[in-house]
Amino acid sequence: MGQKFSVVAVVAAGAAAAAHVASNAGGSQGLVKKPRAPKKSAAGSEARKIMILFGPPGAGKGTHAPKIEAKLGTPQLSTGDMLRAAVAAGTPVGKQAKAAMDAGALVTDDIVCGIIADRIKEPDCASGFILDGFPRTVEQAKKLDEVLAKNGEAVAKVVELRVPDAVLEERICGRWVHKASGRSYHAKFNPPKSLPKGKKAKPKYMLDDVTKEPLMQRSDDTAEALVARLKAYHAQTVPVLQHYGAGKAVGVDANRTLDAVWADIDAATVF
Ligand code: AP5
Repeated sequence: MGQKFSVVAVVAAGAAAAAHVASNAGGSQGLVKKPRAPKKSAAGSEARKIMILFGPPGAGKGTHAPKIEAKLGTPQLSTGDMLRAAVAAGTPVGKQAKAAMDAGALVTDDIVCGIIADRIKEPDCASGFILDGFPRTVEQAKKLDEVLAKNGEAVAKVVELRVPDAVLEERICGRWVHKASGRSYHAKFNPPKSLPKGKKAKPKYMLDDVTKEPLMQRSDDTAEALVARLKAYHAQTVPVLQHYGAGKAVGVDANRTLDAVWADIDAATVF
């Protein structure tokens, strides 16, 4: 593993993830399943709940991850969010990543593997973590497996959100996000409470439901960049599913209402 991620950005991303879990935990009572006897790791301690949330850009990973966090009590680790934090902070990693991200291309395996290897050692990952947007190449999956195997651990589940390419442009181009928490909204499909009915999405109407802070649109959320992002997804990321195999991967039809999609994700995330 070559390059390491800026500690500042990792800490910031980690704190945001931890705060995200905490902020969602209060409302999760109805989602918590009957507890099962915890499985043990090879080392004999309670096994960490390690899962991958998989799917193309706009599939709903960022939308549903907070509910999985609240249910499992484990943080969402989004390499996209961490890289955007590095870009915003102007770190060397951020400077390297920015051009690739804006063009919809993948950042190098060394950078993202370094970020994740460091991040999963943080205390909030003690009982597990939800990988969002990682691994995105078979090489990244192999490196992840190596890092986990050193502790006698492995990925337990891969939940694949399936959405046809044709519906993704409207989702991506209508998305607004709350930068600090990663909460994801959509002008039409999942509007914030601040958008009056019948009004067009304008910055003054687009505020986070929880903090009331302004929402923003990502610089790579354009129809042009989406073409490249989908190309990278099909060519480089889809093979990761085969790497983990049918025994670990569960497919969810994510081209339905948010509630219907969540019901299937909820059923697929029992440890
Ligand atoms: P990243 O941030 O990971 O972006 P992504 O994978 O392209 O995924 P998105 O965040 O766009 O989609 P999402 O599934 O979270 O969608 P959301 O839930 O918001 O990566 C960005 C870039 O960083 C990459 O292009 C790459 O350059 C780099 N990068 C990151 N990780 C990397 C790695 N491991 N290796 C190399 N490079 C890496 O939903 C989208 C919209 O749809 C929202 O508005 C939402 O409200 C709406 N929506 C969701 N579900 C529904 C539904 N069922 N019905 C209607 N609308 C819905």
